[in-house]
Amino acid sequence: MTPSDPISVLFVCLGNICRSPLAEGVFRALAAEAELEDRFRVDSAGTGAYHVGEAPDPRSVAVALEHGVQLTGLARQVTPHDLTNFDWVVAMDDSNRRSLRGLGGGTDGKRRVVLLRDFDSESPGSDVPDPYYGGVEGFERVFQIVDRSCRQLLDEIAGRP
Ligand code: 4NP
Repeated sequence: MTPSDPISVLFVCLGNICRSPLAEGVFRALAAEAELEDRFRVDSAGTGAYHVGEAPDPRSVAVALEHGVQLTGLARQVTPHDLTNFDWVVAMDDSNRRSLRGLGGGTDGKRRVVLLRDFDSESPGSDVPDPYYGGVEGFERVFQIVDRSCRQLLDEIAGRP
């Protein structure tokens, strides 16, 4: 990697329609706010194939917009190649992380599989709850968790204090 290569970050959940697109959008917005967008390549994917090709869930789109964040992209399934192609692979919950390990993702070398909430000082190592079968209030809660964790993740990756 040369100094000009972007740092690549892949957010992963189950369906790639609720949590990981939100994390992707929030992380990208925070990087832009810090004028660091050129330093990152950001994407998201799901461990399952149920929603491949679909736009993010309208409830994630709505909560993101309420906070000034636009979501982009269509759902895709994570591949073994992602695990060598991305510098950071950030799972939303422990079940996602186990699926990623099943695809060969470990913590060796520079490829890292971590939990998003490893970066949440309020509840380190917890799962980002799956809001899919709940109400809209669950999406606001997920936004708060994702926003808080992504701020710390950005600081960690960008090497800021
Ligand atoms: P996500 O949420 O993993 O945050 O995208 C889900 C989306 C769809 C399903 C489960 C979780 N599903 O069972 O279809």
